[in-house]
Amino acid sequence: MSERPGIWLVGAAGMLGRQLAGEFAARGIPVLASDREVDIRDAAVLAGFADGRRIGWIVNCAAYTAVDRAEDEPEAAFAVNAAGVENLARLAGRLGAKLVHFSTDYVFAGDRAAPYREEDEPRPLSVYGRSKLEGERRLAACLERFFLFRVSWLYGVHGANFVLAMLRVFRERDRARVVDDQFGSPTYAGRLAANVAGLVASGGERFGVYHYCDAGVISWRQFAGAIQELALRTGTIAREIPIEAVTTAAYGARAPRPLRALLDSGRVKEALGFTMRPWRANLEEFFREKARLEGSRP
Ligand SMILES: NC(=O)c1ccc[n+]([C@@H]2O[C@H](COP(=O)([O-])OP(=O)(O)OC[C@H]3O[C@@H](n4cnc5c(N)ncnc54)[C@H](OP(=O)(O)O)[C@@H]3O)[C@@H](O)[C@H]2O)c1
Repeated sequence: MSERPGIWLVGAAGMLGRQLAGEFAARGIPVLASDREVDIRDAAVLAGFADGRRIGWIVNCAAYTAVDRAEDEPEAAFAVNAAGVENLARLAGRLGAKLVHFSTDYVFAGDRAAPYREEDEPRPLSVYGRSKLEGERRLAACLERFFLFRVSWLYGVHGANFVLAMLRVFRERDRARVVDDQFGSPTYAGRLAANVAGLVASGGERFGVYHYCDAGVISWRQFAGAIQELALRTGTIAREIPIEAVTTAAYGARAPRPLRALLDSGRVKEALGFTMRPWRANLEEFFREKARLEGSRP
């Protein structure tokens, strides 16, 4: 048993989980880490893992994140994103631990011009969005001491995400097709992780729901253009390919997506002192971090 209550990082092998593990390590803060082997769908397994340990924080990065696949297997999405979150929230309550959890801009319909504030009415269009919203509701129903961060267009140096997928397309294909009528704000997982690790390290108590994204609004097509530009400049790719703009309808993804689910991140800056940077500055940081990990030049 450790002397001070510890931090349990759940979903530590995922995109955001790995980034958070790195942030805690960089601060010299030890964490208990778990992923698939401690299944959040199983309350008894979670309780067994926590047994005999003093846990002050649970930071949950585990989720079912396959947005298109969720349309065909809603039970699987809800089991993790709703029931799994409820299991963690109930356990946090019993342990007296604080819980950090993440949700998504896909809880909103995205059919208006103005950015969404935390108190705006969610109306998810997809199974994934509905499962994440149900998780939010169960969390708020079982626990008071939680931080819930809704983030949009999350990408990072680990795992499956849009930026790494585009880099693969640029290397392997002769042209790309990218949706140009969905607008949003990318969120670099590295910066999000730094902000959240800082919050946990400082023992934050201003609980609640917060919107978090990098500054600026772009389309996926514009984002792809910037990724290619920086990839060329940093020598990550050697040649340019045309990026064709397509509509959401023509692209034909399985799950419906909001066209304009912008998040107003004023509250998280004001209440928690989080610092957000322009999306392009964070994309540059992504390339530096990727180069550092690969041991090549920035
Ligand atoms: N990616 C985005 O664009 C985005 C946008 C907005 C919000 N978010 C939210 O941000 C958070 C982090 O997302 P992410 O992209 O880092 O997710 P991710 O890369 O898919 O990581 C999730 C991790 O949870 C694990 N996991 C899945 N089911 C589990 C279970 N039943 N028990 C324990 N672990 C389980 C996954 O394992 P497997 O890989 O084996 O499934 C994976 O390692 C999620 O809450 C997500 O909904 C993501």
